Amino acid sequence: MKKKKLIVGNWKMNPLYPKEAKALFSEIGKMSKKTKKSTIIVCPPALYIPLAPTTKSFSVGTQDIFYEKEGAFTGSISAKMARESGASWSIIGHSEMRKHGDTPTIINHKILAALKDHVRPIVCVGERVRDDKGLFWNELKTDIEECFKGVKKPWLADVVIAYEPLWAIGIHATRDATSDEIHEVIIFIKKVLADMFGQKNVGGISYLYGGSVTPKNAAAIMHVDGVEGVLVGRSSLKPKEFAEIIKISETL
Ligand code: PGA
Repeated sequence: MKKKKLIVGNWKMNPLYPKEAKALFSEIGKMSKKTKKSTIIVCPPALYIPLAPTTKSFSVGTQDIFYEKEGAFTGSISAKMARESGASWSIIGHSEMRKHGDTPTIINHKILAALKDHVRPIVCVGERVRDDKGLFWNELKTDIEECFKGVKKPWLADVVIAYEPLWAIGIHATRDATSDEIHEVIIFIKKVLADMFGQKNVGGISYLYGGSVTPKNAAAIMHVDGVEGVLVGRSSLKPKEFAEIIKISETL
């Protein structure tokens, strides 16, 4: 059976007011209701998770979790807490978290903690720059190998990987990634994981692309062989644009 496309909205540190978050949830509830081929996941700031309607047509995730379960870890939330508060997914290793100190070892601990507590990790990987010598391939490989150390084979079907080249994310993006670039990197990530875990164990992992996804480029991106969904930042805060991306996913 064909897997459903995953459409993930990363609200980052937005919107500013709870009432705007409620309104956004309600819009997304409406646009997700009739989806058949797509799973919609919204990752708001954790404070807003309880504001999501209880009967909803979309799932909720956090934008990060800490790897300890509970205790003296000021400012952190654990996978268990996320799960108990209604989040079944968590973005882990986003470049904006890496910028604030998340190393591959920390990301590895977070991935393991999420999987143990039944929170599905959406792990972001991607090169900072594309250097002429192709050194970024090795950077990617080492990162993936460290991030996925110790993951048990039966957990792999819960893993989602988002390829997010840093140069294509957010307002400082230099350009869009091309279909060929996305295709190549997804094949490469698959190969690194197959070498780590064995080809027959990695079929359940899902692959997304993220970085300036909009209604304009979503169709081309989701047509790339191997891409099973998108991780959307800015466009997920604009109901019309997010609805359009979902519509595109439904037509594929
Ligand atoms: P963007 O963000 O769509 O605004 O580029 C994507 C992300 O950072 O996950």
